[in-house]
Amino acid sequence: MKILVLGHKGMLGTDLMTTLGGAHDVIGKDAGDFDIASVSDCRDVVKETGANVVINAAAYTNVDGCETDENRCFSVNADGVKNVALACRGTDIKLIHFSTDYVFDGTKSVPYVEEDACNPINAYGRSKLKGEEYLSEFSNNYILLRTSWLYGKNGRNFVGAIVEKAEKTGQLEVVDDQTGSPTYTVDLAAAVKVLIEGDYRGVFHVTNRGTCSWYQFALKILEYKGMENVRIVPIKSAKLGKGAPRPEYSVLSCRKFADATHKTMRFWQIALKDYMISA
Ligand SMILES: NC(=O)c1ccc[n+]([C@@H]2O[C@H](COP(=O)([O-])OP(=O)(O)OC[C@H]3O[C@@H](n4cnc5c(N)ncnc54)[C@H](OP(=O)(O)O)[C@@H]3O)[C@@H](O)[C@H]2O)c1
Repeated sequence: MKILVLGHKGMLGTDLMTTLGGAHDVIGKDAGDFDIASVSDCRDVVKETGANVVINAAAYTNVDGCETDENRCFSVNADGVKNVALACRGTDIKLIHFSTDYVFDGTKSVPYVEEDACNPINAYGRSKLKGEEYLSEFSNNYILLRTSWLYGKNGRNFVGAIVEKAEKTGQLEVVDDQTGSPTYTVDLAAAVKVLIEGDYRGVFHVTNRGTCSWYQFALKILEYKGMENVRIVPIKSAKLGKGAPRPEYSVLSCRKFADATHKTMRFWQIALKDYMISA
């Protein structure tokens, strides 16, 4: 397959390039090569590369930044998806796009399935939901993957932030009232490979297995780093005060993915250990 990865220098994009590069002809484009908010840039970049699969990993992912710059947030995460879908429309190109657990409001207490109603509680979630809606409106050949709590080698993420802060200050306060599933970008990239090499379409939830709070996630990070001596205190989100609100519970059920592909994702603790050994 000839695959175009948009946002190939991002955290997920970099691992997609590596994972898919061994088996396919993969080309990457990122900010600097094109602007996803531009209709003509998207049309040109898709046409030029002659790809038969386009993977859109480009996004504005700063959740707090989205709250203060809704214009940028919607032009990249919503209009950008429409532009890419329109650029692929009327061709045989399959479009792969990523969305987030933050399209849900977090009021459930069992994992969200693909058909659950969306009700985002922050600007990032609203922009990603609008992107989802554009995707289904302007493409009839797509896979939409919702994922959560990503970390990987090629981007700023929670794991790096915890280690950095622990090394600098020797003590941490971490929120304990948000529950989700941390997901290693290498594992997500492998799931993307399975989906594009098979005959799949539609919406899939894909995360590592198991759930935790950010506090429990931080405890594991420190354990694997051999920094159990660092003082870590669980706090409520309200204590952080500012920034975008986050759903309290945003665990995604990956049963549909497992049933369709006969693949199960690794537990998040195993993936984290793997990441920390190789990072
Ligand atoms: N990170 C998470 O925890 C998380 C959770 C759930 C879902 N997701 C979704 O997963 C996907 C990948 O996320 P990620 O964390 O790998 O993202 P990322 O590291 O922030 O990478 C996004 C890439 O898109 C590029 N980009 C931004 N604006 C652009 C524009 N106007 N035109 C072209 N490229 C642009 C960025 O370039 P610059 O860096 O130069 O701006 C960056 O290289 C996204 O759809 C995201 O919404 C992420």
